[in-house]
Amino acid sequence: MCGIVGYVGKDNAKSVLVESLKRLEYRGYDSAGVALLTDEGIRTFKKVGKIRDFQVELNKINLYSNIGIAHTRWATHGKPVINNAHPHLSCDGKVALVHNGIIENYSSLKEELLSKGHNFVSDTDTEVIVHLIEEELKSENSFFSAFLKALSRLKGSFAISVITVLEPDKVFCARKDSPLVVGLGDGENFVASDVPAFLPYTNRVVFLEDGEVAVLSKDEVSFYDFSGVPLSKEVMTVPWSISQAEKGGYKHFMLKEIYEQPKAVADAIRGNSGWFEEGAPLDFNFEQLEGIHIVACGTSYHAGLIAKFYIESFSRVPVNVDYASEFRYRDPVISDKTLIVGITQSGETADTLAALRLGKERGATTLAICNVIGSTATREADGTIYTYAGPEISVASTKAFTTQLTSLFLFALWLGKVRGALKQEEFESLYGELLELPSKLESFLNTERKEGTVKELALNFYKAKDVLYLGRHVNYPIALEGALKLKEISYIHAEGYPSGEMKHGPIALIDERMPVIFLATKGRVYEKVVSNMEEVKARKGKVISVLNPSCKEANNLTDYPIYVPEVNEFLSPILNVVPLQLFAYYIADFLGYEVDQPRNLAKSVTVE
Ligand code: M6R
Repeated sequence: MCGIVGYVGKDNAKSVLVESLKRLEYRGYDSAGVALLTDEGIRTFKKVGKIRDFQVELNKINLYSNIGIAHTRWATHGKPVINNAHPHLSCDGKVALVHNGIIENYSSLKEELLSKGHNFVSDTDTEVIVHLIEEELKSENSFFSAFLKALSRLKGSFAISVITVLEPDKVFCARKDSPLVVGLGDGENFVASDVPAFLPYTNRVVFLEDGEVAVLSKDEVSFYDFSGVPLSKEVMTVPWSISQAEKGGYKHFMLKEIYEQPKAVADAIRGNSGWFEEGAPLDFNFEQLEGIHIVACGTSYHAGLIAKFYIESFSRVPVNVDYASEFRYRDPVISDKTLIVGITQSGETADTLAALRLGKERGATTLAICNVIGSTATREADGTIYTYAGPEISVASTKAFTTQLTSLFLFALWLGKVRGALKQEEFESLYGELLELPSKLESFLNTERKEGTVKELALNFYKAKDVLYLGRHVNYPIALEGALKLKEISYIHAEGYPSGEMKHGPIALIDERMPVIFLATKGRVYEKVVSNMEEVKARKGKVISVLNPSCKEANNLTDYPIYVPEVNEFLSPILNVVPLQLFAYYIADFLGYEVDQPRNLAKSVTVE
């Protein structure tokens, strides 16, 4: 996730900005850059790689300025190379800009600006914004109004900071769906995408809301809405240490990442909706596609199991899902009409890379579903679908999983459309329901924040020795994922099963000490799951259910209900997994374990 910093004040902006960027390193980045306003105009400096190396280079440059902006980039559009690093400049070099987020309409804006003679030097979506401001300056009578006019043309998400020689003592900022916070100092002011950036200087902050603009000068900060109407904003004092602030006030990265899911899912939708207008996510004859092999490990494998339902139901293309570590030992049937889809958050998992390579060797086309731009999987595969989760720091995967599912759902919808298997009205209805998913996730998480239902449940069960997770259809893989999360971070034995399979063996385990977690939300298998709940109840098992408020039958059989909003059954896994992530998180925390770095596990497994 990119990081923004802006400064105007009494100190050497170069040092303040780089020190501030270092405090945003935890967000993950692949390149960094700084723009400083000097008597000779704007000077920019950029580097791919670590900030400490960048700092060594900058220290050698003798340059003093009191105002500037800086950025750490985590690539989304365009590779991690110098030209794509921010800040980006207008053609005349009078405006410099840094941006976090995704500009959805950047292709059409870029076309328009190219036709008006603007010269682009990067592959980023960001660069259109600075050219757009430059273009608006031709007809507007102030920089501020040109800035507002440019904002009104942007679709997507953005946090932006801008400096310009036309207003040499000001930093202009705006926010829509991407965080930005102003720090109020004494004779100096700051803006950043997160509080730790400026915490050593000030803890007096103003959080920008969507649709708000801030204009910073050395001695004051003014706030406006996007139409330029002045706003009065509340100043808050943040009582956090730097390490608390990095986690946004959450105790662990895992909890922060769980709570980031509404935004991450919205970003995955934004980032991957372009195919419906712009065409295929990779160069392949999809009409001749005969079959898909999905290869993945761990949580990504569970995403693959759900993707099989999506792809087969929406496009009628047959799908096999394999653990990547097994794939190459089973001599799979592969041809040039086969697509091999490797799902990997990190893009560095050795088994998944090996499975993708095998597919390629046998003449298949390969597609990576990946979160990390420039990773090995994205370099080696024929095409990549990015998941836009932002860096995931906790070893236990949460937002990477829900964004994989979101991206795969979109891919399946797209495939269904191009193969003619999905009618327009079915497509519109499914896509419409997907668009509503981020707000439903938000609603569940807000309720949990207030009521703490899952936390209380974890308090009841953190001493359990075994937990059984049961689900059917698209929620069977969620049972597997819930069990994996619990095992990974709390070291409690857990198993996921299709609930219809229980009577063929695991039912023997059930007694009054066994917590059984059912995925019992509305869908084609709801009544079947209710019957399976009866079987557990009859054996005195403790029934915990993830269910919708309207699931009366399931509710009657449940000892501990967790209510989630009702969504289309195909989308229910993306919502239902969230309480299971929280359940695992709170149990591990109650047991006092290192939640973000569980024993024996690594974030990416680069050995076979
Ligand atoms: O980076 P990948 O998605 O390829 O990683 C695959 C697994 O190693 C990963 O999902 C692992 O299971 C996580 N620790 C799950 O929380």
